[in-house]
Amino acid sequence: MSFRGNHILSIDQFNRNDIEQLFSVADKLEPFASKEKITRVLEGAILGNMFFEPSTRTRISFGASFNLLGGSVREITEVGSSSLAKGESLADTAQVLSGYSDIIVMRHPENDSVKKFSEASRVPVINGGDGSNEHPSQALLDLYTIRKELSQNDKTIDNLRIALVGDLKYGRAVHSLCKILSKYKDVKLNLISPDELKLPEDLIRQMNDSRVSINQTENLEKGISEVDIIYVTRVQEERFKNKKDANKYRGLLSLNQSIYTANCEPNTVIMHPLPRDSRSDANELDSDLYENPNLAIFRQADNGVVIRMAMFALVLGVEEKIEETSKPVNWKVGLNS
Ligand code: CP
Repeated sequence: MSFRGNHILSIDQFNRNDIEQLFSVADKLEPFASKEKITRVLEGAILGNMFFEPSTRTRISFGASFNLLGGSVREITEVGSSSLAKGESLADTAQVLSGYSDIIVMRHPENDSVKKFSEASRVPVINGGDGSNEHPSQALLDLYTIRKELSQNDKTIDNLRIALVGDLKYGRAVHSLCKILSKYKDVKLNLISPDELKLPEDLIRQMNDSRVSINQTENLEKGISEVDIIYVTRVQEERFKNKKDANKYRGLLSLNQSIYTANCEPNTVIMHPLPRDSRSDANELDSDLYENPNLAIFRQADNGVVIRMAMFALVLGVEEKIEETSKPVNWKVGLNS
């Protein structure tokens, strides 16, 4: 695909070269994301950050990324504070907001809503998560994290062995991650979930067609042995018709240090798209994993900024102009020790 001037709605749009191009721009943007340098390359541009569903990471990191490139951000943070609550259609909302913005990020609880919105938009739209369907920017930052973490042990994404744990039925981050992994060679995938929360059949078919080796189990201990990455997810309570039904699955697949030590290879990396459910009846990733150097969840969340900066740079066509506008910073980040 060409990034410039295009919507980003699904991982299906990308091939491996596109992903490598994005990662290469992200690598160049690292000093700007870590605030060693400043750029104003998007000065004057406005991001419409339209979140019709709760978010901490995706909304704030998309906004921070745009600010770090020198642009400004306008936001909606819930349906109730927008005129969708008065019955306005997504198409009219898109017509109007695309008159106020140069690019839009949108999250919405309905599957395919972001695609519908994009069809009426006059500017590029990035999918920030549509129902249980997809979360493409999450998959891109997840893969960037996997690549970085594996490289420390001289491993590559080709030949990856990964366990996906939790709610694989409703988890949109998992759906996009499966699609992106299916673009790589010799990937071995252990799907660990309760039977009722198994990965949808269409995704299994897509991965089978791409020769991903799939093993499905409900047994956490068995599924996390002999993998490079464990990717844990939350039970997506908000997607259940009857929210109380989610209680049946909460806490069934919790990882702690003793389970990790007893079953995992020494360098197995632990990831989670977050938010993790830390309530005592769920406790997906126990706090005793904090000392484990292979717990990559906050490195993973940090990578959201640089990946989203790269997405904006490529879609708005400024990836070659960043250095031209580069300046040193006059201040330091961090606490006094
Ligand atoms: N990973 C993720 O999408 O987190 P938020 O819901 O906080 O944006």
